[in-house]
Amino acid sequence: MNVSFTNLIKASAYKEKNFKKKIIKGFSDLISNNQFIGGIQVQKFEKEFSKYIKIKNCITVGNGTDALEIALEALDLPKKSEVILPVNTWISTAEAVTRNNLKVVFCDINLTDYGINLNDLKNKISKNTSAIIAVHLYGYPSDVKGIKKLIRGSKIKILEDCAQAHGTQVSKKHVGTFGDISTFSFFPGKNLGAFGDAGAVVTNNKVLAKRCMRLRNHGALKKYDHKFVGRNSRLDSLQCFVLSTKIKTYNAKIQRRNVLAKIYLKELKNINSLYLPILDFKNNYNTFHQFVIRVKNRRNELMRFLNKEKIDTMIHYPYMLGDLKFYKNCKGVKTLKNSKNLGKKILSLPISEEHSVSEIKYVCKKIKIFFEKKKVI
Ligand SMILES: Cc1ncc(COP(=O)(O)O)c(C=O)c1O
Repeated sequence: MNVSFTNLIKASAYKEKNFKKKIIKGFSDLISNNQFIGGIQVQKFEKEFSKYIKIKNCITVGNGTDALEIALEALDLPKKSEVILPVNTWISTAEAVTRNNLKVVFCDINLTDYGINLNDLKNKISKNTSAIIAVHLYGYPSDVKGIKKLIRGSKIKILEDCAQAHGTQVSKKHVGTFGDISTFSFFPGKNLGAFGDAGAVVTNNKVLAKRCMRLRNHGALKKYDHKFVGRNSRLDSLQCFVLSTKIKTYNAKIQRRNVLAKIYLKELKNINSLYLPILDFKNNYNTFHQFVIRVKNRRNELMRFLNKEKIDTMIHYPYMLGDLKFYKNCKGVKTLKNSKNLGKKILSLPISEEHSVSEIKYVCKKIKIFFEKKKVI
């Protein structure tokens, strides 16, 4: 059996009959109507996504990195103030801080849900902290309620990076609705992905929403109405059409990921050499953008073994951001514990709505065989 990491077009079409035909027809209509930038289709998806996560404003932008940069800029934080973020995340989370002339402070993560570690966060908050970025990595919710409690009464802002967590919920409330402002990526490989780069900023705050709308469009809400220096980060109609089509069956997709993740959790639970994610299924809803295990020893050996068995795996991420040359002197790097060498232990197993139960069971079987052979179960 050959188990690929993902198959984007198969996953896109999951539970949607004639998916490709619908997309081609939709594109053809938009082209015939000269609908490329802005307009009804963009507004339609923005409304649909707001309704889906239950938030007042959704502002689509070019990609998830722009969304982070724009959201931080909209918060208008004091220049050179400190923004705390987890050290295990995609580089964009930190880049957006640096590009806004703010200081990156790295925080440790939990080894259960890979979210920001509240004990370390307590130590990292200082009088210079202006914001905290909670990243809902792998589609597992970060403890946003805990962060809110920790900073209650202060002026510190919360930005949620939900690039990997569309539909993830904490206590029946969607992530992205807890912070002051939040961001999403619709990169093709994301659970809800477009057919190119795409992203969005969401917020319940009207003033922040307006600022983001201007920031994405040269400081203007309509032609020649520039109020300040912005940029061009508008999402096009074609991508919005893809997203509008895909959001219809999105809940079925994340339900399917949950079914498959529970098979991994059941089948792999007795292997002592592995650490599985520890997630709160009772109160939260996880969307399993990735299914990440930690391997005590021999991670690379296991990876090579699975590869030989034609099973694709990946690492998210092979380095912590504090290991990068240009981030190694950032505040917080020297006091990290859980995330130390994490990139050498983690392994992402195949998971997506198009995988079959037998494929996931096959992956588990091969992992068990690997550890039995090594007599280290
Ligand atoms: C946690 C996180 N934040 C931000 C981004 C940036 O999104 P994009 O690739 O759409 O710019 C990503 C993308 O992988 C991500 O995983």
